[in-house]
Amino acid sequence: MAGLVVASGAVALVALADPPKTAKPANNSYCYVCHVNFQTEELARTHEKHGVGCAKCHGESDRHSADEDGLTAPDIMYAKEKILDACTKCHALTKLRAVDEHEAAFTKDPAKRKVCTDCHGKHRMAQRTRHWDKTTGKLIKAEGVRMMQKDTPATSAK
Ligand code: HEC
Ligand code: HEC
Ligand code: HEC
Ligand code: HEC
Repeated sequence: MAGLVVASGAVALVALADPPKTAKPANNSYCYVCHVNFQTEELARTHEKHGVGCAKCHGESDRHSADEDGLTAPDIMYAKEKILDACTKCHALTKLRAVDEHEAAFTKDPAKRKVCTDCHGKHRMAQRTRHWDKTTGKLIKAEGVRMMQKDTPATSAK
């Protein structure tokens, strides 16, 4: 068992090689019920095609998905400073560092530094109605009493 874990780059804490290309796409339909905009979003799509679904990065998030009031946070969220570590679980740091365009990702100057999702995809929603603490999942702020009406889309993302 331990051997298997070591042999698979995807579950190692830090990837030493590029992630394997998988032919079988992930099934994200459960999340698209509400997050319909992510169906065409690049980061989600690229990974979906290679078997890395929403749940791989955000957890199964069953309670979140079942909460029609939209007050329960998903299982895993990412504060800005956690994004690089999340991505380099699968993408080898040495290879990323070798890409010229990645200078901004690794600069020591905080004023010039960019996170992976600043450049890859349009994974951030234009508007947010829910704000959770990304570490604890505690609801900080919710606009509107009930946003999950049956006849309106769940997220107002553009
Ligand atoms: C019943 C509707 C519903 C379903 C199904 C749903 N979500 Fe959500 N999700 C929401 C709402 C509502 C928000 C808050 C949107 C906003 O701020 O306007 C949200 C926000 C999020 C966020 C943002 C968290 C953050 O960083 O602040 C993530 C991540 C997320 N959902 C992941 C998922 C994943 C993964 C699935 C599928 C397993 C899923 N959601 C299924 C309704 C849903
Ligand atoms: C490869 C990992 C990965 C996959 C796959 C992924 N996400 Fe994310 N997601 C992230 C990261 C990292 C962030 C934080 C991005 C940021 O703040 O710039 C995030 C943020 C979000 C947010 C919050 C956006 C905001 O405005 O704060 C939502 C909603 C979300 N993801 C939904 C989804 C859904 C739905 C799917 C599947 C269709 C999905 N994600 C697939 C890594 C992923
Ligand atoms: C669970 C493993 C996993 C995680 C975590 C992950 N990726 Fe990926 N990523 C893949 C796989 C598998 C592919 C498709 C194979 C490939 O192109 O290397 C891929 C492809 C990509 C591509 C396209 C590469 C190309 O050559 O076109 C980009 C860009 C990318 N990922 C960025 C990210 C970013 C940004 C994050 C963090 C938010 C992230 N990935 C997190 C597994 C992962
Ligand atoms: C300043 C913008 C920017 C930032 C920040 C950034 N990237 Fe990139 N990335 C690019 C560009 C431009 C390319 C090359 C063109 C392309 O393939 O999209 C690239 C290429 C890639 C590739 C495929 C090429 C390869 O040789 O591996 C992956 C995977 C990737 N980036 C992941 C990441 C991850 C993970 C992060 C965060 C650590 C990140 N990127 C941060 C702009 C950026």
